[in-house]
Amino acid sequence: MPIARAQTMSAYKEAYKNSIENPEEFWFEEGKRLRWSKPYSVARDCSYAPNNHHIQWFADGELNVSDNCLDRHLDNLAHKTAIIWEGDNPTESKSISFGELHQQVSKFGNVLKSLGIIKGDRVVLYLPMIIEAAIVMLACTRIGAVHSIVFGGFSPAALASRIQDSQAKLVITSNVSRRGGKAIPLKDNVDQALSLPGTDSVKNVITIQRTQEKTTLQEKDVWYHDLMAAAESDCPAEPMNAEDPLFILYTSGSTGKPKGVLHTTGGYLLHANMTFEHIFAIESDSVFWCTADIGWITGHSYVIYGVLSNGCTTVMFEGVPTYPQADRFWQVIDKYNVTHFYTAPTAIRSLIRAGDEHLRTSSRDSLKVLGSVGEPIDPASWRWFHKLVGKGRCPVVDTWWQTETGGILITPLAETTPLKPGSATFPFYGIEPAIVDSNGQEIENEGSGNLIIKQAWPGQARSLYKDHIRFLETYFSTYKESYYTGDGCYRDGDGYYWITGRVDDVINVSGHRIDTAEIEAVLNDHPSVVESAVVGFPHDIKGQGIYAYVILDPQVNTVVTASDLNTWVRQRIGVIASLDKVHFTANLPKTRSGKVMRRILRKLAGGETDNLGDISTLLDPTVIEDLKKEIQ
Ligand code: WTA
Repeated sequence: MPIARAQTMSAYKEAYKNSIENPEEFWFEEGKRLRWSKPYSVARDCSYAPNNHHIQWFADGELNVSDNCLDRHLDNLAHKTAIIWEGDNPTESKSISFGELHQQVSKFGNVLKSLGIIKGDRVVLYLPMIIEAAIVMLACTRIGAVHSIVFGGFSPAALASRIQDSQAKLVITSNVSRRGGKAIPLKDNVDQALSLPGTDSVKNVITIQRTQEKTTLQEKDVWYHDLMAAAESDCPAEPMNAEDPLFILYTSGSTGKPKGVLHTTGGYLLHANMTFEHIFAIESDSVFWCTADIGWITGHSYVIYGVLSNGCTTVMFEGVPTYPQADRFWQVIDKYNVTHFYTAPTAIRSLIRAGDEHLRTSSRDSLKVLGSVGEPIDPASWRWFHKLVGKGRCPVVDTWWQTETGGILITPLAETTPLKPGSATFPFYGIEPAIVDSNGQEIENEGSGNLIIKQAWPGQARSLYKDHIRFLETYFSTYKESYYTGDGCYRDGDGYYWITGRVDDVINVSGHRIDTAEIEAVLNDHPSVVESAVVGFPHDIKGQGIYAYVILDPQVNTVVTASDLNTWVRQRIGVIASLDKVHFTANLPKTRSGKVMRRILRKLAGGETDNLGDISTLLDPTVIEDLKKEIQ
């Protein structure tokens, strides 16, 4: 039998201990949270040994994700609201029941089949937060197609590179996306992407008509509504092996090329399903609102799969926190009696900035639990969230995890764990974190270092799409037989974990992971740029901002401004990679072996000019003096 939700810390500790000491038995029982068309005989088959590395969960079992999110609930919950949709404009909203959603998903499953999509094919989704996005995701899982969602803020070039890498057969988009009162031309972006080389794998584009704006259809294009009108509604869920690929989600690495993180079916769904119920203390009448976009892992796990597989109502919001006014979040909470509200520190900081006035137009009395994800939350923002938004009544669960982990790993259990503002507290069941120093030596008790995870867990990524070697190198080669997170962490004397941020060259801008090397590669491609170095620096709202040091080519006579370079980067990556500061300079600090000393550049960008640390390996120390002067 799966364990019950821990009501006390001693119950948590006992169940946690058992999950670590007897993982096979523990996960064998937890697997029963899902509906399997063919039961598994073994839960866990994992090893991180370099010569025998493999991660397999429930490997001989079969199940289907859409069956677990929909069909399974039809006997009891067919009329229950599955999704509440709130449009960018407050006058636009609708909802769909589990029964209706099941029907739409089945129809779209048949649409996919009619276009020749079969099990294992990749389908790229470039969509706004609309109900159809959920329908399309679930329909892919229903027939065994592998979805790859590309966040709508990515540029045509970034979309094209993701299509190329995954060799997708189909792209699903909408004519436009509406955000903050503006229309974003998603379909035009798709057309541009498909005009770029390497995208010939795409045979069709399905367009959802989000608005009445005029849309030009190309040869490969079909309207969603035309296809749906002709589709049959009977589409049995395809039995999938637990280890069959479920989705690919591209995320930033630290080597310049996005990584296609690959998740599989059974383990991912179990992890999303279990963490959701236990961490947020979900009840049968909960209304859960996670503000993340489905283009990110948080949207996958806690807008769609974790929520619907528990038969819980999920809110999908198309807009932005400050449109039409800064009270929008709170208005929506009152409108739907939202019980659980899960958002990002960057949104909280921007609302703190907007003054507290916007909190006066709502009661927020329906709220029971608050959650935070995506970056470290500073204690002041945590307290504001707890005291003003939740009126001191609602626990704040600060949940630490990553695209690669599939679901939450370090977190409080709402209503059970005693909280400390700014700490993600303790590991979830089955998760064995450790803190190591730079020599790989484990730090016992209190101390800080790099965070690793020792045991395998069901929801973890299985590979990087078509690049298993990079997967092993990135996550399993830094520390012996452990998963390397790339995050720094401090464990205090009471055993609480405090995530301190990335220790690699990934920066976290408004909760979005950005690879500095990817931006550098784009900058270096500019005809006037000789060299660049990109680092993060502390930013009041975004958490981290993007600081680019740029050396221009003296041979090129055209005048290049910071804003030109910003446009260049935004066109090639997307708005999330906007440069906050461009620093033109003549030299970068390099070691004698020619490596840029990024540590120094980070300090300077953050306004620190005195404590630069060891600079004895610098080839030319005067470079530092020049940079300092330029900053002043
Ligand atoms: C950071 C988002 C501190 C961390 C789910 C991680 C956090 C990266 C927290 C993953 C948190 C996420 N406290 N830092 N509660 N949650 N992070 O892949 O640096 O978009 O490595 O997944 O966000 O970002 P990703």
